[in-house]
This record gives sequence, structure tokens and C-alpha cells, in this order.
Amino acid sequence: MDKLLIRGGHSLHGDVYIAGAKNAALPMMCASLLTSEKITLRNLPDLQDVRTMLKLLIEMGVEVHFPDPENRTVVELQAQHIAKAEATYEMVKTMRASILVLGPLLARFGNARVSLPGGCAIGARPVDQHIKGMQKMGAQMQIQHGYIQANSPKESNRLRGAHILTDMITVTGTENLMMAAVLAEGITYLENAAREPEVTDLALLLNQMGAKISGIDTDHLVIEGVAQLHGADYRIIADRIETGTFLCAVAATGGEIHIHDCKPETLDAVLTKLTEAGLKMEVGKDFIKAVMKDRPKPVSFRTSEYPAFPTDMQAQFMALNTIALGNSRVTETIFENRFMHVQEMNRLGAQIGIEGNTALIDGVEYLSGATVMATDLRASASLVIAGLVANGETLIDRIYHLDRGYDRMERKLSALGADITRVK
Ligand code: EPU
Repeated sequence: MDKLLIRGGHSLHGDVYIAGAKNAALPMMCASLLTSEKITLRNLPDLQDVRTMLKLLIEMGVEVHFPDPENRTVVELQAQHIAKAEATYEMVKTMRASILVLGPLLARFGNARVSLPGGCAIGARPVDQHIKGMQKMGAQMQIQHGYIQANSPKESNRLRGAHILTDMITVTGTENLMMAAVLAEGITYLENAAREPEVTDLALLLNQMGAKISGIDTDHLVIEGVAQLHGADYRIIADRIETGTFLCAVAATGGEIHIHDCKPETLDAVLTKLTEAGLKMEVGKDFIKAVMKDRPKPVSFRTSEYPAFPTDMQAQFMALNTIALGNSRVTETIFENRFMHVQEMNRLGAQIGIEGNTALIDGVEYLSGATVMATDLRASASLVIAGLVANGETLIDRIYHLDRGYDRMERKLSALGADITRVK
């Protein structure tokens, strides 16, 4: 199993290029199941979850082609003949986002069999809202032997438009229901919809494929079903979480970096908090120049749905707070178990206590390197940031979590002057 060895204490300087958003790429790849025509996706990030999704799609019969084998950022997907409308337990357990094939398969083929995801490290994460929404569209949904067996209404083999109000805001739930609704008969009203930029990006791709979605960027989506969709050529939005992670890294280590190919307008809450922490930024349409000279100031926040502060940036900000000049409070409201990095950070000398869903952080002057274990994707990123500022050597175990969601992170950090190497 690969590990990362970091010798801390180097400030970051130079240029870094942001990849396409993982959480936009994954649903968009599933959207290719909605048509027999070719979908070209550009700005595809090169990361493990994307490779897992490609494997799942290939298993189903989707033709996958990289027109330039040297450049894995452009992929062509064509779902002309689907051999089996199924996502097995083996696939879903390695990547929960596999559940996103359910809506498209059911909408286009009238049936799907997808394993129920189990709990995961950061929380229980049920998919009841996906299931209830599809039931409202007339689907027969049965849970048997750990699988969701979904079938369209017998009469027409096509889902029906419905009025759906989800109990909570769910990102992949919104995406799955939106993809189910685009080929349904009639109009679907999706209320309490997630407004994350990745949801918007998926809606824009679907409209380019011929879907009729309005209310994009709001929590009330109106989807007028169409009989069929066609091919499209689409550029995936920049990854806001990767962007925020590099900004936290420079805010922690000090230095000056120029972030290219990003989308600052999707990062309002994050940029506000970084400014509070003392990071100086020049923000353009697709770049951010960031300079940090002093020790960070502590920042308190609660995670919430977009446009508020993202749960996917909570751990990275926690790393920053560990070395801040003072105390902070961080409250996690989206997932019930997303503080697993706390114990690991405390092994590096951080002083963090937990009260319910709030972490109380006493900033310390320095962290000291140790062996730590990554427990989930964003926790891994936060340990990398902590390792970059810790004295001496930090060895991070189980970095396959990091590889799932970051495109060549250690290479990008090395280019910025970090002393970070992958140990086999
Ligand atoms: N929830 C339910 N029932 C449902 C759906 C969700 O109870 O049917 C609950 C969840 O358990 C959670 C909350 O609702 O407590 C919100 O979960 P949501 O469905 O929004 O999360 P998700 O769609 O599974 C996506 C991202 C996550 C990100 C969250 C929140 C993808 C592939 N994943 O997950 O990304 O943290 O939204 O923004 O888009 C990551 O990239 O590291 C990551 C975990």
C-alpha cells in the first residue's frame, strides 16, 4: 500500500493547475447512459474514482475511448448497447457514486439493478431519498438480497413526471432524480434540490443533450421529460475542493502561489474564511493569486449545503486552525462522523477536542511529524496539509483515499516546493 512521506517546513511557491471536478465528472459519466449517441467530456480529472466509474460503465457495455491516449482529460463515452443494467456490490462498495447509474438506467431501459451502498467511514449515508423519488415517478422499487431492483411502470415502460420534495438536501439524490426525470413522461418538479455547482454543471450537460431543465442553480428544478436525448461535447467545471485544498495548504505553510484554471465564483464561502484567516488573494475569473506571510488567524464555521461552507473543506480548514493564533470552533452538520482526522492531527501535536458535532481547536505554535493514517478522502488531504507544516517527517498511511479524489496531488505540491514523496 502506498504511503506519503512529507518533510515539513517548506513554504509553497509557484503555479498550480486545477483539474476538472470529481463530483461533476462522476454523474456526467453516468449521464452517458441516457443516450445511444456519443458524449465527449473534456477536463476529465485523472483520479481513481474516475477510473472506477469507467470500469463500471465498460462492464455494462459502454464504449470508452480516449481520442488522444497521451491526454486522459478528454474521453468519449457511447452507451449504444448495454449488456446489463447492473452495478454490483463489488463496484458500489468501492465507490458510492456508482449509485448514480440507477436514475439513467431506469429512465432509458426501464429497469436497473444496483447494489445498496453500505455505511461509509464519514456516516451512514442512506439512499432512501433516491428510492422514494423514483417511486414517486411510478417506478417499482424492491430491495432484495442487498440490491435495489427498479422497474418502470408496466403500462408504458417509462417513468412519469412527479412532484418530489426530498426530506433533506442531497447532492447525488438530486442528480439521480434529475437524470431519471429527463426521459420521463411529463413534468417533474424537484423541490429542496441541491444547488452545488456540480449539480448545475450536470444540468447544463443534460440540457446540451436535449433535456429541458429549468430553475438551474435554484432549489426548485423543473424538468420537462423528453422522448430521447442526443450526444454532446462538454467541458467539466473546475474542482472547487481541489482549489480550496491548495489555498488551505499555502495559508498553512506560507508562501505565494498562482492557481490557474479554477472557478472562484464557486468558492465564495471558502474564500471569505481564508481572508479571515489572513490569506491575501487576488481573484480573477479563472485564477487566484494567494500570498500568506503570517501565522494564520483562527476561523470558526459550520458546514452546510451550498452556497454555505462545504463539508468537503472542513478537514483542510481544521489543519489550518491547528496552527492558528488562537481558538476556533468547527461544526459539522452534513455527516455524522466526519472528524476522524482529529485523532490523527492530535498525534501530530494538535490540540483538538470534540463536543458532539463540534470540534474545539486550540491553535499551537507548531506540529511535529509522526506516522498517521488517512481515513477518508478529505481527511487525507488535511493530513497532507498538517504534514507540510509539521517539524520533521510525517508518514501518511492508506493514501489510496487521497488517490480516489485528487489528480496527482503530490506531484503538484512538489512542483510548488513541498518535500513530499510517494513510498511504495
Ligand atoms: N442523505 C440521506 N438520504 C439520502 C441521501 C442523503 O439521509 O437518500 C443524507 C446523508 O446521509 C447526509 C446528507 O443527507 O447526511 C447529505 O448527503 P448527500 O446525499 O448530499 O451526499 P452525497 O450525495 O452522498 C456528495 C458528494 C460528497 C459530499 C456531499 C455533500 C459526490 C459523488 N459526493 O455526496 O463528496 O461530501 O455530497 O456535499 O458528489 C467527497 O468528494 O469527498 C465527498 C464525500
